[in-house]
Amino acid sequence: MTRPATWHVTIRWLHTIIAILLPAQWCLGWFAERSAGRTTEQWLFSMHFQLGVWILMLAALRLTARWATRDPEATPGPVWRRRSATLVQWLMYALLFTLPASGYVIWIWMEASRTVWPGFEVPALFVPPGDDESGRAIAWYIHVYGAWMLACLVGCHAGPALWHQFVLRDRLVTRRMWPWGRREAAWMHGKESGISKPNIES
Ligand code: HEM
Ligand code: HEM
Repeated sequence: MTRPATWHVTIRWLHTIIAILLPAQWCLGWFAERSAGRTTEQWLFSMHFQLGVWILMLAALRLTARWATRDPEATPGPVWRRRSATLVQWLMYALLFTLPASGYVIWIWMEASRTVWPGFEVPALFVPPGDDESGRAIAWYIHVYGAWMLACLVGCHAGPALWHQFVLRDRLVTRRMWPWGRREAAWMHGKESGISKPNIES
């Protein structure tokens, strides 16, 4: 069975939204930890918690869409390059779940508000022991180093993708990941008739 020319539209939209939200989430965590005033710190952490829950829900939706739809045909290139790109993608998925999970553990320890929006509160799944902070310390290490690792992986992933787009000019990003890229991908793969040729040279 032939594979589609591009990723499913749900995946392309979720990829773009998460790619925008993730740097914002990273900055919220970073500045919350380093803010001088107590009120600013609390506000930044509260935003960090709420956005983190949204990112978790969007990542779960994206993984479900990935499972429910067919992946497009692999981009041409050596096997090692395809394998390493796939490995980086799955490591990013793993961290998209590990970060909210470890953040949640720290959050429960902080005993902060678990309300994401009025009427929806994240449940407290455990009661932190009063005399032992080791669970919190482990979660902290996982969260902080995980956030750095994710930033590095995103760089290793987005860098080559942008190289393809702007240096090799093969339109990898717009063809395969841009929410509106379907027409271009379809034309390039000759899968649909009656679609006008995009101006590849411009
Ligand atoms: C994909 C999602 C997330 C990313 C990328 C992320 C990123 C970060 C970053 C970069 C920091 C600052 C680390 C540093 O100072 O070097 C941080 C701290 C923190 N994050 Fe997150 N975070 C995410 C999700 C969450 C969630 C869902 C929660 C809460 C449920 C959370 C709770 C916290 C807390 C409590 C801290 C402060 C840790 C401490 O000082 O004890 N994070 N996060
Ligand atoms: C400027 C930022 C980014 C660019 C330019 C970019 C580009 C791309 C491109 C072109 C593909 C398709 C690759 C192919 O078909 O061979 C792709 C797939 C993918 N990207 Fe990104 N990406 C960016 C940010 C991110 C971020 C922040 C994440 C996650 C943390 C991510 C995770 C993935 C994953 C998991 C896939 C596989 C398809 C899927 O399951 O959604 N990307 N990306």
